[in-house]
This record gives sequence, structure tokens and C-alpha cells, in this order.
Amino acid sequence: MDPLILKTATAVSQISFFSSFAEMKEELCRSLPENCRIVAIIDEKVDVFYGYLFPYEKITVVADERAKTMATVERITRRLMEMKAGRDTFLLGIGGGITTDICGFVASIYKRGVSFGFVPTTLLAMVDAAIGGKNGVNVDGYKNMLGTITQPQFVISCPAFLSSFQKSEICKSVPEVLKTRLIGGKSIEEVADFFGNTDSLKGLEDGRLLGFIREAAEVKCRVVASDERESGCRRILNLGHTFAHALERCSGNRLSHGEAVGIGLVLAAKNGGAGRMTESIAAVLKQLGLPSQIPENLEITELNRAVLQDKKNSGTHLNLVVIDEAGKISLKQKLVKDLIWG
Ligand SMILES: NC(=O)c1ccc[n+]([C@@H]2O[C@H](COP(=O)([O-])OP(=O)(O)OC[C@H]3O[C@@H](n4cnc5c(N)ncnc54)[C@H](O)[C@@H]3O)[C@@H](O)[C@H]2O)c1
Ligand SMILES: [Zn+2]
Repeated sequence: MDPLILKTATAVSQISFFSSFAEMKEELCRSLPENCRIVAIIDEKVDVFYGYLFPYEKITVVADERAKTMATVERITRRLMEMKAGRDTFLLGIGGGITTDICGFVASIYKRGVSFGFVPTTLLAMVDAAIGGKNGVNVDGYKNMLGTITQPQFVISCPAFLSSFQKSEICKSVPEVLKTRLIGGKSIEEVADFFGNTDSLKGLEDGRLLGFIREAAEVKCRVVASDERESGCRRILNLGHTFAHALERCSGNRLSHGEAVGIGLVLAAKNGGAGRMTESIAAVLKQLGLPSQIPENLEITELNRAVLQDKKNSGTHLNLVVIDEAGKISLKQKLVKDLIWG
């Protein structure tokens, strides 16, 4: 499958897609710079399952939002210093979005910046987190407060890594795939038919899954290439997320990020006045076994308060990303008190 090339003002990254570990490894060997010392920053769980695929010096990380902090960045930095890792070091981030966010951040500041690349191992990281150069850590529970935008040299995706997940766990990340398909104007029913089918993930070499991952990555690359620093259109990638962040916070994280994004997509259509899309998205979520409405015990006033606390929103006016009647994604000015939650 052809790779994608993401060209921004400052960098060129290659994003490639392989069905099997053998092909993924071949590409990794081709992509790693020969004259660099390779240090893998790897999710400790991924290291247990797949560490044998990566015969490099390693620093493990725990994929826990609470450990996505400066303390972990400092621990990795100290370890690199002990290893006497110089500016010729290449950091290889292997894991989900937590690991790639931390690895990218360390790489962008260690000794004023070293090169890096990613092998994402979760669906979310393959379609979203590993692409686009945003990285960073949380501060006092507030997400991604410190970070940079620095592009990896490469991202190598291989859905064979997904075989160690329960299918229901993978389905929870599918709303992120739906999000990019809505932005890219592609059918969401096709994705629901694939993931909603009980046997679909048995044969992970199935080219359809790889195709969905590539299509989602392509949409993200297109948006990032035109607005790397999010001064304009990159904001559309937040589709559903204003609602999702408030739902995650107010449900005390009982709703996972993906589940909250799913409900957020329904609400983005509802708030944009897209009646038919509201119904289609809700139907697709149902097919995936995911919630499509806000939990009954959540208070609208609390949700509105949480929206106002979101770092991306300022004042009482929101620049909300919505799906309009024509199915187009657009930005709409809205007062927080006028948000429709159900
Ligand atoms: N940089 C960006 O543009 C961007 C975009 C979206 C999300 N993010 C960030 O991504 C993070 C979420 O990423 P995520 O959902 O990939 O979570 P994650 O990194 O926490 O991984 C989820 C869980 O899966 C485990 N895991 C990883 N790969 C596995 C595998 N192959 N088999 C079995 N278990 C595996 C991890 O150990 C962890 O327990 C958040 O911190 C979010 O802020 C970043
Ligand atoms: Zn998300």
C-alpha cells in the first residue's frame, strides 16, 4: 500500500502501512538512520507482547494518563543521560498515543531536539495521535498543557498489533475513525459494518482495516499540511471533542474518550442542525455497541461549566465545530448556554 507523505513548512514525514510484522520490520530497518544510536521509548505492556520485534536499547513507559507528566519526561531524560545518549540519538516511540506523545515531546527538547519516529500500536494512535506532530504532557490533570509541534520522520502502522486487544476495546476507538471519515466526506456505515461484524478482526491481515486506517491518516495529513499550527482549519479535527471532553470530565471518566467522542459527533450534528446525520451517526454507534446519548445522571449546567473550562475555549462564545445540514463540517459561533445536549 502506498505511503503518505506529510509535507509541512518545516518537515517531511512518511506514513506507511503494512499488514504483517515481517513487512513492518523491513520498513523500520529501511527507515531508521544508519548513523544514529537507536533508543526505543516503548509502552511496557507492548514490550511484553511485542518487545522481541524491536532489538534496540529501550526505555519503558507506563501508558497511564496520570503518568503523562513532566516527571516521566525527566525520568526518561535522566536515563538518556546515564546512557550517554548524544545528539546523534534517534528516539523510536512504540505504543499508543500516550507513549508517542511523550516520546515526541522528549525528542523535541532533549539536547534541543533529536530525530524520532513512531510505530503506533493502538487504533487511535494509528489514525490520529501518531500523526501531525503534536506531542506533550499533562500538568495537574489538565491535558497536554506542555508540548511542541514537531513532526516525526516516519510513522509505520501495522494493524497486526491490534490482535492483543478485545474487540470491544477496539470498537471504543472507532468514533475517532468516524470523525475523520465525516471530515473527509466518506461513508461511516461501511466502517460500522466492518467493526460491527463479530468476525471482522479475526483476520487482521484483511486489507479493509488497513484501508480504513490509511484513509483516516490521509484526512489528518491533508488538514495538518494546510494548517500545522492550528491557526485555522486544523480546528475541524476537534469535531465532537468539545462535547467529549466535557462528558469525560463530568462522568468522572466512566465514559472512555472514544465513547465520549461518539456522543460528541451526534451532538455536533444536532447543534449544526443536521437532522439526518444525527440519526445516521446514532445508528452507527448503536451497531458498534456504543452509547449515542449523554448518560441520564449528567447535569446540563455541569456540562456547560466543563465546556468553559476546556483550554480550547475562551469566554462564553464557542467556536464550535459542527456538521451542518449539507453534511459539511464548519465552525459555528455559539453561546455555551445555547448548546444542545440531547
Ligand atoms: N498528539 C495528538 O495529536 C493526539 C491525538 C489524539 C490523542 N492523543 C493522545 O493519545 C492518548 C490516548 O492514546 P491511546 O488511546 O492510544 O492510549 P494509550 O497509549 O493509553 O493506550 C491504551 C492502552 O492500550 C495499551 N496498549 C497499547 N498498545 C497495545 C497493544 N498493541 N495491545 C494491547 N494493549 C496495548 C496501553 O498500554 C494502554 O493500556 C491521550 O493521551 C491523548 O491525549 C494525542
Ligand atoms: Zn480524540
